[in-house]
Amino acid sequence: MFDAKKIREDFPILKRKVNGKTLVYFDNAATTQKPVQVINAIRDYYENHNANIHRGVHQLSQEASQMYEDAHHVVGKLIGAKWDETIFTRNTTEGLNLVMYAWAMRKLKKGDEIISTVMEHHSNMVTWQFLKEMGIKLKFVGINDDGTLKMEDYDKLVTRSTKLITVVHASNVVGTINDVRKIGKIAHDNKALFVVDGAQSVPHMPVNVKKMDADFLAFSAHKMLGPTGMGALYGKRSLLQSMDPFMYGGDMIKQVTLEKSTWNDLPWKFEAGTPNICGGVAFAEAVKYLERLKMKNVRKHEEEITKYAMERMSEVDGLKIFGPGDYRNRGGVLSFNLGEIHPHDLATILDEFGVAVRSGQHCAAPLIHLLKAHATTRASFYVYNTKEEVDYFIDVLNKARKVFG
Ligand SMILES: Cc1ncc(COP(=O)(O)O)c(C=O)c1O
Repeated sequence: MFDAKKIREDFPILKRKVNGKTLVYFDNAATTQKPVQVINAIRDYYENHNANIHRGVHQLSQEASQMYEDAHHVVGKLIGAKWDETIFTRNTTEGLNLVMYAWAMRKLKKGDEIISTVMEHHSNMVTWQFLKEMGIKLKFVGINDDGTLKMEDYDKLVTRSTKLITVVHASNVVGTINDVRKIGKIAHDNKALFVVDGAQSVPHMPVNVKKMDADFLAFSAHKMLGPTGMGALYGKRSLLQSMDPFMYGGDMIKQVTLEKSTWNDLPWKFEAGTPNICGGVAFAEAVKYLERLKMKNVRKHEEEITKYAMERMSEVDGLKIFGPGDYRNRGGVLSFNLGEIHPHDLATILDEFGVAVRSGQHCAAPLIHLLKAHATTRASFYVYNTKEEVDYFIDVLNKARKVFG
């Protein structure tokens, strides 16, 4: 039985007061809170196992190496990937940069084209812009008024020069869940790679890289109960094997002479230098926590909270929610504006009442401009949020509306 109230007991931070009020944490799309299981795993690692990996014959080094390797198995399994196709990174941004530097920059040439969407987070937009210097063209699929992708744009944009198609699986602004299977098929029918930004999907719903046939999929640990500075990139084994490393140095080599070096096996070939060992161990602990809840239950809970929040928000005068009207087509991310109140003012008032939300452009400036909003306020939910918190949030929104007339 999925019980958000019981789950809350695992999160010490949810007991703290903010401005004298009990914290209501609705900024989960930015980062999530951490359960005691993850906090304890970090403590246990440093208290009992800390050593550098792959370098020592001593007991601690062997334990740390095993724990770090096991973590790849756990994280990979969550998305239907093998452990050696699961590269640990710092975050989604680094994963996408790895694909850009180690695949696109080396394999593409002048005149080749990449198709992205106007819905992307900066990390899946600015990263590819860098390739323009090489004469590579960037094209963007547009959005409809309801925040869904203009799927018909793919027909217009795909050419024989299309070499890579990338898309955000679930938007961090409008919440839209994109049809990755369909977009992946378009990519592969046209012999292009399919790259998925899973930052807002992997933490919130069952995701399987094989089913969506992704060539690469990037996500972040900190958005799914894990530590900051930790993420993963899935890549198809044959692709990863065909690529040269992203970074060079220790741990990613097999043999080194003064003249040349050969590369280590996967995934180590792409994990140069001493990695965030403890971060990997804690990431796996976060994934184990989510697997105990089951990802389909996580999704169901978020659907319920999102549906309820959308209904209650529609009762607030002058409130406009961006994105799909049907909660089933969106993640638990609600960007909105309330009359003429500036999102930063609204977020400040909410904070005075202990409610943490995000305000601004959410690292998606082009999308915010297309929505004809200078900024939005964003409430985003996770496993520990409750309908009672939504009710409290609505009360504060009504108070804010009165304050600003
Ligand atoms: C959709 C999406 N993609 C990418 C990112 C970047 O994640 P990170 O900052 O962990 O690299 C985010 C973060 O908010 C996001 O929401």
